[in-house]
Amino acid sequence: MRKKIVAGNWKMNTLPAEGVELAKGVVAQRGEVCECVNFIVCPPFTHLAQVAEALQGSTVELGAQNCAAEAKGAYTGEVAASMIAALGCKYVILGHSERRQYYGETSETLNKKMEQVYANGLTPIYCVGENLDEREAGNHFAVCKQQIEEVVFNLTEEQFKNLVIAYEPVWAIGTGKTATAEQAQEIHAYIREVLASKFGAAAAECPILYGGSCKPSNAAEIFAKEDVDGGLIGGAALKAEDFIGIGKGFMA
Ligand code: 13P
Repeated sequence: MRKKIVAGNWKMNTLPAEGVELAKGVVAQRGEVCECVNFIVCPPFTHLAQVAEALQGSTVELGAQNCAAEAKGAYTGEVAASMIAALGCKYVILGHSERRQYYGETSETLNKKMEQVYANGLTPIYCVGENLDEREAGNHFAVCKQQIEEVVFNLTEEQFKNLVIAYEPVWAIGTGKTATAEQAQEIHAYIREVLASKFGAAAAECPILYGGSCKPSNAAEIFAKEDVDGGLIGGAALKAEDFIGIGKGFMA
């Protein structure tokens, strides 16, 4: 049985006090959803420590949205994976399309970040996905395959067992335009096939999350698909009720 995961990517939203309130709300409502669903919140770096405290004693886990490609040293403004781990994070989102697009993250950088993430006992949530032009040209399969081959294929079998993939079509992020459940299933199944070509049977155990305008009203339909193991949530993760409501999609 693959892990079911609902992860919230808060992006650059909330001040520390607001983040703590949001985390407390998630903790308070978490009991409304089966323990079989794993909830993860990924606040900005600045309030990881405070949110970690708010999550104490609950099963809601903590993740970061990024980390440095180097272990430590003269890298002004960067945050090392070891620092994130020391604050109680279990996960790190890597390769989000916003980081690829606005901060020029390449597979080369992401390979180095992966190394740091594993060296510090963290689990990467590795994002892949095509933009609108690529989708319209029918290149979405090739784009996802390349993003996986260039990074995930460099992992060891041991590391691969500790990996979460998020498929996030760029055209669905923050646009209110969701991929249909069929589109999600089609590409998730394809991604699993690509993973299996390298890692064999272990690919059946890798959680693949859908991300892009996921909300309580569409989660159940998307999560019902065989190869969709949960969601990476942006906007709807900023309200505890909606975030938990998405988790309820597994119970519908
Ligand atoms: P939205 O849910 O706001 O579309 O964002 C998705 C996303 O980018 C999560 O990482």
